[in-house]
Amino acid sequence: MAPAGNRTRDGTGEVTAAEAALMLDTGQARAAGERVIAWAEALAAHTDHPGQLTVAYLTPAHRQASLELRQRMREAGFDEVLEDAVGNVVGRYRGREPDAPALVTGSHFDTVRDGGRYDGRLGVLLPIAVVAEYAARGARPRHTLEVVGFAEEEGLRFHSAFLASSALAGSFDFGLLERTDADGTRMDDLMRAHGLAPEAIAGGARDPSRVAAFVEVHIEQGPVLLERGLALGAVSSINGARRVMVRLRGVAGHAGTTPMAMRRDAGAAAAEVVLFVERRCASQPDLVGTVGMLAVPGGSTNVIPGACEFSLDVRAPQDAVRDAALEDILAEIAAVCERRGIACELEHTMNVPAAPCHPELRAQWRAAIEATGQAPIELPSGAGHDAMKMAEIAPIGMLFVRCGAGGISHNPLETITAEDAGAAAGAFAAFVARFRAPAR
Ligand code: GLV
Ligand code: MN
Ligand code: MN
Repeated sequence: MAPAGNRTRDGTGEVTAAEAALMLDTGQARAAGERVIAWAEALAAHTDHPGQLTVAYLTPAHRQASLELRQRMREAGFDEVLEDAVGNVVGRYRGREPDAPALVTGSHFDTVRDGGRYDGRLGVLLPIAVVAEYAARGARPRHTLEVVGFAEEEGLRFHSAFLASSALAGSFDFGLLERTDADGTRMDDLMRAHGLAPEAIAGGARDPSRVAAFVEVHIEQGPVLLERGLALGAVSSINGARRVMVRLRGVAGHAGTTPMAMRRDAGAAAAEVVLFVERRCASQPDLVGTVGMLAVPGGSTNVIPGACEFSLDVRAPQDAVRDAALEDILAEIAAVCERRGIACELEHTMNVPAAPCHPELRAQWRAAIEATGQAPIELPSGAGHDAMKMAEIAPIGMLFVRCGAGGISHNPLETITAEDAGAAAGAFAAFVARFRAPAR
């Protein structure tokens, strides 16, 4: 990156001294990138299962990760560091105008099972590294910068995706407190056992007038930037998602003695549905559907599956396209069950609308990318992000960072380079330096 002072603001004028003080030069950005990679590696030492990176909500590894993030924030020089009622890690770095609404940023620090070390975590660690740089030089952004490590986004333990950001957005579903994990632990009991206060969650909802914007830095989790040879991209919009858990009940029976025509095989019924999901979702561009969990509870080699449970995840850039596909899939499930004599129970676990990024924040991210010397490009997000929830209370924007290894994510092979993390740190600092609260 060229020295900040030489940069013009979108071709309309020189960067002010206050803005320049918040930019990073190439060496500072690169150092911040290296720090982020080292921190991500250290954070990945906490895992529910040795040999893989799995961090579910409020496990011992999750508590360790939370403590480590709070420690990083304190060391970076945040003015205030706390854990909120749902387990979010929150750091505040005061701005020059304390009465101005905050610029809130962050992402999640829980993971999928056997996931990667950057999904979510990059969006927490990178702003911490930039604040460390600001604190070291006494630079203050105009708006208070609030960095949130969201405690739960992936829904691994309780099928409660966006649990943590929904608390900030004021749309926490209190019914979830009664939900139990695979071992029968109630969420409410678990939270209390870790010193969290479910009754205080409602009080943690942000006043929308005190949030100027929510922005999230995240790995792309796909190959687009990699294929285009670019480190960074501004996000145009985030696909909406719906999820359903499907529980089929047939009749368990002897695998050797029950004639094929006399079976009520819940596993075979599920198999028909899986293939229908694939066919239906392949029929339209940008529509995607996945059966990511599929189990025959208590199954045995020599027993016809009496039960089969599976998850459905359907996404598209337009909610109407996604909803039409899900309707067709549910109709197919009903038809298959009817034909095979299978009972079916559906649990709708997620319905998040597509979230467009605010046009002014998109423009500000494009300008911030340009400030690093890269051509500004935009791309949509196929993955879900905390920003989707925060969109309920604030204008949102996102910065994507290139993934290596073919763009793979939700996989231990997920990777980014220190150089790209550095470019992202430079762009983030440029964004903060020139941030203007968008009109709402
Ligand atoms: C979040 O990781 C998602 O499933 O998109
Ligand atoms: Mn993820
Ligand atoms: Mn993520």
